[in-house]
Amino acid sequence: MPSFAVETPHGRYAALVERGSLAAVAQHLPQNRGKVFVVSTEDVWRHQGAALERGLAGVEHEIIHLPGGEDRKRLAPLEAAAEEMVRRGGDRTSVVLAFGGGIVTDMGGFLAAIFMRGIPVVHAPTTLLAQVDAAIGGKTGVNLRTGKNLVGAFHQPLAVVIDPATLETLPEREYRAGLYEIVKAGVIRDAELFRFLADHSPEVLAREPAAVDRIIAAAVRMKTEVVSADERESGLRRILNLGHTFGHALEAETGYTRFLHGEAVAFGMRAAAYLAENSGYLSAEDAVDILDALRLYGPIPPLDGIRAEDLLARLVHDKKTVRGAVHFVLPVRIGEAQVASGIDDRLALDAIRTALS
Ligand code: GLY
Repeated sequence: MPSFAVETPHGRYAALVERGSLAAVAQHLPQNRGKVFVVSTEDVWRHQGAALERGLAGVEHEIIHLPGGEDRKRLAPLEAAAEEMVRRGGDRTSVVLAFGGGIVTDMGGFLAAIFMRGIPVVHAPTTLLAQVDAAIGGKTGVNLRTGKNLVGAFHQPLAVVIDPATLETLPEREYRAGLYEIVKAGVIRDAELFRFLADHSPEVLAREPAAVDRIIAAAVRMKTEVVSADERESGLRRILNLGHTFGHALEAETGYTRFLHGEAVAFGMRAAAYLAENSGYLSAEDAVDILDALRLYGPIPPLDGIRAEDLLARLVHDKKTVRGAVHFVLPVRIGEAQVASGIDDRLALDAIRTALS
């Protein structure tokens, strides 16, 4: 069973990738604990709740539903959830079990970070994107109207229990959105994973277990290594933001309702590939390979009506902006990325325009 360790100054935990692991999720809860609060959405619960209930047999727990959707990833539902936890007997010994996609692990993790000044959280992610990215690394938070994830905390989980069997009920669009994040993992740090994705798209798109488990394990390995090297994103971890600067701008500009996060990241990777090529960071050949891989797992929804100038203006509000300077994560070859600053706005605007066209 592939298990990858995350080692940070704030704790060591495992990200476990195993089919059927939900059945043993209780093993990952602390021994000495109070009530377990399962934080999920109604939709996830309808499809996967029974599997989790089997894993929690004999464990006293309560279910708290959050609203789904990136546009509802806000502070208000967290306040309501915390009130509900108190009403149902939550205290400092309680534990959050975040069961759902990236919105649930971000919000459930943040709820755990602030409830009674901090209680433990275990993540059991049920979307591909959450399994390979959102649930690992301790980033938690919610959106503001002005930008994505602008309020939050680092709060590392006790464990991340990844059961690829949960993907069987995942809608196609959500599945592809997660695949874009795995393409990102390949582009920034794992050329072998990138080649596998380029050469085996039929098996990956058909969700053949061997292919799915392989790409999840590779992406999880990459993420755990990067977070272990740089928990607080002061150095290496910044490469995980490939496509995110442009992607966050796209999400904010369209009110968080038109694109899934992974789709926005795919758009952002397209823009980053153009920008990297135009500014001399990336060869034309590698840029074409990245664009082709994104196409293989696409298409992303239509981009009509979005103005490049408006996206550029949004980049400066992103929290990746440092003292007013926009930093771009750019691929320099397949399997390697770096942070670039001082890129001329006109080049960035051209790249956005090309990515939108
Ligand atoms: N999703 C980017 C990170 O975890 O740093």
